Amino acid sequence: MLKEKINIAIFASGNGSNCEQLIRHFQGSDRISTALVVSNRSDAYVLVRAHQLNVPTVVIPKAELGNSDKVLSLLRHYNISYIILAGFLPLIPDFLLEAYPRRIINLHPSLLPKFGGKGMWGRHVHEAVKAAGEKETGMTVHYVTPVCDDGEIIAQYRIPLSPDDTVDDIIEKEHQLELKYYPLVVESIVESLGEGEK
Ligand code: GAR
Repeated sequence: MLKEKINIAIFASGNGSNCEQLIRHFQGSDRISTALVVSNRSDAYVLVRAHQLNVPTVVIPKAELGNSDKVLSLLRHYNISYIILAGFLPLIPDFLLEAYPRRIINLHPSLLPKFGGKGMWGRHVHEAVKAAGEKETGMTVHYVTPVCDDGEIIAQYRIPLSPDDTVDDIIEKEHQLELKYYPLVVESIVESLGEGEK
C-alpha cells in the first residue's frame, strides 16, 4: 500500500531562494511534500516562486500571526506536520511552538551562537561577520524555541573566509551552503522523526 506523504509548510518573508530549493528538492521525494508556503508579506517574491512551482500560498500578515484559530486551522487543513522557516522574520508565537514541538526548524546564516539574536538577519549578519574579521562563516539549522536563534542546533556547515572577502562575497559563500545543505538536513529530520502528532 502507498504510504501517505508527510506534509511540510515553508514560512518565508522575502526572496525565497531557499524555499524554491526546498520545493524543488521535495518534488523528487516519495516521502515528503511541500504542501503550503506561508508569507507574512503579500509582496514577497517567494510567493511568485511558489506559484510557479504549483505550491499553494497563503499570506498571513504579522498582526494576524497571533490568531491561533486561524493559523492552526490553516495548518490542519493542509495536514502539516513540520514548519520549515526559510528567511521568515516574525517571531513564532507560543501556540505554534506548543502545537509543533521540535517540528519547527529554522535556518540561520551564521555559525550560532555567534551573530544570532534580535536584529541579526539577512545582510546584517554578514556585515557583522565582516566587521568582526571572522576567519570563517557558515549556516546553522536549529529547532525553534521562544528565544530567538537559541534552539538546539541540528546541523552546521562552515566555509573559510579570506580577509579580502567583501560582505557580498561572504553572503554568496554562505548562501551556497544553504542551497546545498538545507534541503538535505530538513529531509533527514523529517524522515527520521516521521509524521508526529498533528
Ligand atoms: C537566508 O540567508 C536565511 O539564512 C536568512 O534569510 C535568508 C533568506 O533568503 N535567515 C535569517 O536571517 C533568519 N534570521 P531567501 O529568501 O533567498 O531564502
